Amino acid sequence: MRHLSNKTAVVTGAASGIGLAISEALLTSGANVIMADVEEPRLARACDRLAASHPRVAPFRADIADPEQVQALLAFSISQFGTVHILCNNAGVSGTIGLGKAAWEISADEWDWVLEVNLGGVINGLRTFVPHMIHHGEPSHIVNTSSGHGVTTGPTSAYAISKHAVTRLSEGLLFDVKNRNLPIGVTVLIPGAIGTDIMASVRNQPDACAIVTEGEAKKLEAYGDGLKARGLPAAEVGNMVVKAIQDNQFFLYTHPEQQLSGVNQRFAHLTEMTNPA
Ligand SMILES: NC(=O)c1ccc[n+]([C@@H]2O[C@H](COP(=O)([O-])OP(=O)(O)OC[C@H]3O[C@@H](n4cnc5c(N)ncnc54)[C@H](O)[C@@H]3O)[C@@H](O)[C@H]2O)c1
Repeated sequence: MRHLSNKTAVVTGAASGIGLAISEALLTSGANVIMADVEEPRLARACDRLAASHPRVAPFRADIADPEQVQALLAFSISQFGTVHILCNNAGVSGTIGLGKAAWEISADEWDWVLEVNLGGVINGLRTFVPHMIHHGEPSHIVNTSSGHGVTTGPTSAYAISKHAVTRLSEGLLFDVKNRNLPIGVTVLIPGAIGTDIMASVRNQPDACAIVTEGEAKKLEAYGDGLKARGLPAAEVGNMVVKAIQDNQFFLYTHPEQQLSGVNQRFAHLTEMTNPA
């Protein structure tokens, strides 16, 4: 999709980090943007800031893990701008990645929460928005945010498992739209370290389940401070996403030199039948 002017985009996880940066980059390219997030006060602040220079933006509070709220997001988007052309399935949570929990040590609540948001949220986005895109028939594009953890191997984390599923789901989607000759492009965004609040995502854990103890939350916070200090500024990722939409690029790595060595290592084990290490 070369020209984004007057196209409408929906971005999830838009209150912070990469989603906020994607929203800003899309607005700068002339698109209308619906910013969706579960964290309401932060979403309102972020949207107000962008609205000061870009009037065609609106916020919507939605938990992407809930299919009805994602349906309400579509209805709101149509009420604001008529037709949705771009969906950025970007919202995600990191769970306890970084604490070194083994597969059997991760709580059932954490498995549910991370998979429901990171994988379930993308599935809800596709099940809701793709039929709308097929119905209006105009060129459209979907960006799913995976992770470097979604293409490499390593110890278990609910996060890495969810992101592997997002990578494979995006590949499946690419085949699905091509096999049906639909004018829908697909990008899977594979960020490396980006300086955002992702490590503090337990702030959005559902009330009913406590995923981490206070001590664990402090460790994650310290890990998050390190990520913010060394990570790429999110604004750069926003611009990369806009370019990938314009170029119809499927794989979008933010740090290709570093990330591809991990991918190559994994594929060497797969193809040479050596044990992962
Ligand atoms: N920051 C990194 O280094 C990095 C690396 C790889 C992948 N990612 C991925 O990038 C995406 C964006 O994360 P970020 O780094 O900007 O983190 P962030 O925490 O700054 O932003 C994530 C946003 O998602 C929102 N969110 C969380 N749960 C939600 C839900 N159920 N419904 C709706 N919104 C919800 C949060 O409120 C937050 O505003 C995530 O999918 C993350 O996994 C980030």
